[in-house]
Amino acid sequence: MLLRGGRLVDPAAGIDALLDVRLRAGLVREIGPHLAPEPGEETLDAAGAVVAPGFVDMHVHLRDPGFPDKETLATGSRAAARGGFTAVACMPNTEPALDSVEILAGLLRRARDPEVACRIYPIAAMTRGRRGGETLDYAGLAAAGAVAFSDDGSPVADDAIMRAVALRARSTGRRLIAHAEDEDPMVRRDLTLARETATAWHIAHVSTAVSAAAVAEARRTGVDVTCEVTPHHLVFTSELVRERGGGAKVNPPLRGEDDARALRDSVRRGEVDAFATDHAPHTAREKALPFERAAMGFTGLEVAVGAYAYALPDLPLARFVAMLSANPARILGVPGGTLTVGSPADVTVFADRPWTVRSEAFASKGRSTPFDGMRLPRAVVATIVAGSLRYRAEGPVSA
Ligand code: DOR
Repeated sequence: MLLRGGRLVDPAAGIDALLDVRLRAGLVREIGPHLAPEPGEETLDAAGAVVAPGFVDMHVHLRDPGFPDKETLATGSRAAARGGFTAVACMPNTEPALDSVEILAGLLRRARDPEVACRIYPIAAMTRGRRGGETLDYAGLAAAGAVAFSDDGSPVADDAIMRAVALRARSTGRRLIAHAEDEDPMVRRDLTLARETATAWHIAHVSTAVSAAAVAEARRTGVDVTCEVTPHHLVFTSELVRERGGGAKVNPPLRGEDDARALRDSVRRGEVDAFATDHAPHTAREKALPFERAAMGFTGLEVAVGAYAYALPDLPLARFVAMLSANPARILGVPGGTLTVGSPADVTVFADRPWTVRSEAFASKGRSTPFDGMRLPRAVVATIVAGSLRYRAEGPVSA
């Protein structure tokens, strides 16, 4: 396939220029101005659009195994492709939890089904059953394909066990992902353990000014820590709970405007490494329950590109692309994140073309997002995984 006429933005390679990209046999084959199509080559007109390394969402819930009413690998990966993601890392809060080599192997076998539209990287549990009591064979889990370790929404409460997890997982080189719920104290505890044990850590969905500042300070003083933000924590506040009840319920919760503004400023200052959606699909019935019993979380994959551009319209394009490609790929230690010759042919094409979110048209089974009905400024044009076109938007490329 030949991608013609687009603006190639590859921050890892320091490229921002009008360049064509030729893909062949699953890899980037050639980059240059005005490449001529070869006989039999498919072409994609990217004039007016940005051609970027495939986006990687390092925080999604795919619900496999255990919750096919909420999402399946087929629906979740199709949602990813529609959202511009060529790869996603899925959290282990499944049933059973992703806590053994056998369970990971089963997931990865299902992920090879032709119905599955993107690459899937499992994040394994930190403790048996995510119950916070028993450490696991981290080297074995990493060898079986785990790209990181996390107990997701049930973070390890016992400091001694958390320290043991860190010391045993450290040699895998895979990051521990803190999914702090009672956020500020837990983030502080984990940053202290990251420092003391010299273990690579990642703080998921930072949502408060205090946590964002603590991560930045830890990093300034030598801790190997990275962090991510979701689109909803950048845009919405707890005001929304009054309007929408369970529809606005998410963990960590929506905060005040001061926190949302502080997070946007942290991104602008380069203190946040990655954009991640925390795509958390639930059935309509589970989201419609009274607030106390409603399911937590929003479906995120199909709005992400537009939502981040809405939250941070002034973010330089190279930074926008890096936060969605090079940075998450580096944090997880997975291929991709660049389009230099020889790299995987995973490509996201997007354009500054306003569109209106219609959740009823989502590929995801989850339809609950606070962005529903909103007009967003940036849209996905095409998603290419290993050289195959997995999504192509209808209509012209640019506005
Ligand atoms: O809102 C959330 N939803 N936060 C979590 O921690 C888990 C997630 C889910 O799995 O639904």
